Amino acid sequence: MNNEAMFLLIHGARIIDPSQGIDQVGDLLIVEGKIAQVGRAILSGQLSEWTKKKMETLDATGLIVCPGFIDIHCHLREPGFENKETIATGTKAAAIGGFVAVCCMPNTDPPLDNAAVVDWVKRKASKDGVVAVFPIGCITKNRKGEELTDFAELTEAGVVGFSDDGAPVMNSQLMRRALEHSRTLGLPIIDHCEDKALSAGGIINEGRMSDKLRLKGIPAAAEEVMVARDLILAKLTRAKLHIAHVSTKGSMELIRRAKEETIPVTSEVTPHHLTLTETQITSGPPHKSLNPNAKVNPPLRTVEDVNALIEGLKEGVIDAIATDHAPHTSADKNCGLEAAAFGISGFETALGCLLSLVHQGKLSLVQLISKLTHEPAKIIARNNELGTLKIGVPANITLLDPDLEWVVNSHNFVSKGKNTPYEGYRFRGKIMATIANSKLVHIDDSLVIKQSNAAI
Ligand code: DOR
Repeated sequence: MNNEAMFLLIHGARIIDPSQGIDQVGDLLIVEGKIAQVGRAILSGQLSEWTKKKMETLDATGLIVCPGFIDIHCHLREPGFENKETIATGTKAAAIGGFVAVCCMPNTDPPLDNAAVVDWVKRKASKDGVVAVFPIGCITKNRKGEELTDFAELTEAGVVGFSDDGAPVMNSQLMRRALEHSRTLGLPIIDHCEDKALSAGGIINEGRMSDKLRLKGIPAAAEEVMVARDLILAKLTRAKLHIAHVSTKGSMELIRRAKEETIPVTSEVTPHHLTLTETQITSGPPHKSLNPNAKVNPPLRTVEDVNALIEGLKEGVIDAIATDHAPHTSADKNCGLEAAAFGISGFETALGCLLSLVHQGKLSLVQLISKLTHEPAKIIARNNELGTLKIGVPANITLLDPDLEWVVNSHNFVSKGKNTPYEGYRFRGKIMATIANSKLVHIDDSLVIKQSNAAI
């Protein structure tokens, strides 16, 4: 396939683009890398001889074509933790997951707390990355929660928001200042909500499972008190607050009330918090041993929480789905549950597990695609050419088969992180191809791109 300037006709797919209310079977035409026509069948007579000569075709009958997925929360680990992931491996894994753009968290070494490091990541991403990479800058220097970073300098360097990720700002006055600064720049504070005193030493959700296994729990309150505090501060400052990986029913209800009060808040939920519960910790092989790959922060919660999160997503209380892709080495995970790192490698399983919600009738396909495309695009508003199939924008497209079955085998992951709680799961639905910034960055072996002359 000629990746220089893409001329591609995607035939006969169901095209879903929530940004324009499109859901119809038809063709999608890409000319010189840009979306040229969407929807109806494209006839040979409509194309110039020159275009026809260059055109390649892809028969997408039975497939879904939609805007490329956007992941507003992931960990690419570079610089500093290249043993866990690199920008090269992480973005390749993202492409396999259907993502055309990812926002990477600043908990690297050094952390993304100044323009020079952000610049380094951007340059590395344009060299090694196969999908767009948008860095998130730190709120405080060295993520220590003591002194604010230079928000203006980081904005100039190109960050899409500010976060101290897993080291949330405990000082409320500093958080107020952070919100005030971010407001002047129009970027969101991306908030990992966790009261570290309440969660200290915790491994899994505090509740029936932690009691049964005699493991130290992380209470829902550790998340909810911080959600409540920061919603109050967002109300005070009128700054954009984005709540990361909402995991409890209580947090969802707090966000619902805040939205009713028109506090400027958005939120995200992960695929794992939508599909797994606290019992997953006992799913380790061979005899239901404790599974470090189900250890994640915030922890997997209860069925009641999962159901509330799905409802919240449907109702728009939760705006977007983000993977929180957190790759770790096997050594970081297989060192006893207490010492094991928190996190799930999420890019390559996201669609498979999320489609289970569609197949079970809990979410519509259009809703799911909206939460992976149009909605996250609005949250990282720095690039308005993403999350849409509007005519004239560079092609950022995901093709998926909603019914193709496959079994998760982490040995086949392109990500260095094999830490998945979905090992051995049979999923129905697979990413078939990903086009990022007008380049084909992933294609399933079963799809064939042909020279067009025969087809049009
Ligand atoms: O499970 C998690 N892993 N939660 C976080 O907040 C951080 C992440 C990581 O960096 O591994």
